[in-house]
Amino acid sequence: MVEQVKVHKGLDGVVIDESRLSLVNGSEGKLIYGGYKIEDLAAHALYEEIVFLLWEGRLPNAAELEQLRQDIANAAVVPPQVIEAVKQYPKDADPMAVLRTAISMLAMYDPDSEKYTPDANHRKAIRLNGQAVTLVAAWPRIRKGLEPIAPRKDLTLAANFMYMLEGKEPAQADVDAINTFMVLLTEHGMNASTFSSRVTLSTGSDMHSAIVSAIGTLKGPAHGGANTEAMKMFMEIGEPENVATWFEENIKSGKRRIMGIGHRVYKALDPRAAVLHKRAEAISKGARTDKWYVIADSLATLARADSYFIERNLYPNVDYFSAIVLYTLGIEVDMFTTLFAMSRMAGWTAHIMEQAANNRLVRPEVLYTGPLDLPWVPLEER
Ligand code: ACO
Repeated sequence: MVEQVKVHKGLDGVVIDESRLSLVNGSEGKLIYGGYKIEDLAAHALYEEIVFLLWEGRLPNAAELEQLRQDIANAAVVPPQVIEAVKQYPKDADPMAVLRTAISMLAMYDPDSEKYTPDANHRKAIRLNGQAVTLVAAWPRIRKGLEPIAPRKDLTLAANFMYMLEGKEPAQADVDAINTFMVLLTEHGMNASTFSSRVTLSTGSDMHSAIVSAIGTLKGPAHGGANTEAMKMFMEIGEPENVATWFEENIKSGKRRIMGIGHRVYKALDPRAAVLHKRAEAISKGARTDKWYVIADSLATLARADSYFIERNLYPNVDYFSAIVLYTLGIEVDMFTTLFAMSRMAGWTAHIMEQAANNRLVRPEVLYTGPLDLPWVPLEER
């Protein structure tokens, strides 16, 4: 007789701990970081202000913000051994595999790698936040045979990203768009990648290992990989006039899902998607073409009027319109998820430090459904 226990498939609705970092209210479509509404933060905050808010539990004053900006910019340099190794990776490697592998290698050059004190974790978190941005900006250059560009000490992370990617002074509008994207993606409760990071840390493992777990988990198309998949879908649709037929053939037929729509927690509109929708519209109006926005907007409108999507409370999530924003900024499609990863670094490291401060091994159970009491059969009799 198998013991009767409730199986929480996919850990749906399971609360694993307390956290002061963010509140995700799925039924009302609200997101709060450390007490502040995401809409206010997206409109006003610098990414570094969010980093401070998550790590310290309050907003910084001007001097504290400038100090953290400098600390991260100074720590954003990637050791030359790691850059040399990245240059050896296959040029067609998946950018998330590149980031995951390079971050793992960073651990071996980090002077605090195997130190577990709160101060050591804080120093590693600063380095990881800067170095991830440098690595994400470096890969598109390296795979084209270009030299990566070192971070500047005078820039914010968002500005440094665009500068290192393009090799020239970035346009302020582009920096603002990347900063908003980073703020919106920084933190999101007990999502799958954050959970992975906390599980790894809970065994007494180190921060870099926890981040490698998180990156591997973010990569999947049900999670962070959806931004790349959403853009590929818009490109497959190709033209605004194809949206209705594509929807009928691929979605109404039940063959596929719309990538960038649906969420485990949000049963109302993801508030990040609302901000990104407006941003995608604005940025597309000033671009060479607004066709990608028109395709995304028409497909979302079609889905919103469809009974299947209405009954299941399926709305665009953060990945849907962020694909349009990133594409319009000139980011290569397969790089999108790495930009999500570099933005989430502050959230992951905050959760890791929170877990470390009050750790208990994360070790759930599984319901065994295999056979019992089988007689042992010697090898020659099988
Ligand atoms: N398109 C069409 N139908 C969908 C979609 C979609 N995008 N998402 C969910 N559904 C349907 C499912 O088929 C299912 O229908 P059913 O009840 O008739 O079987 C129902 O809605 C519930 O879906 P589940 O997969 O059970 O929901 P779950 O909470 O496990 O999955 C997920 C959530 C993975 C995000 C899902 O909505 C999905 O696959 N979306 C597309 C991928 C995506 O955008 N991922 C990014 C999420 S946001 C983030 O991680 C940053």
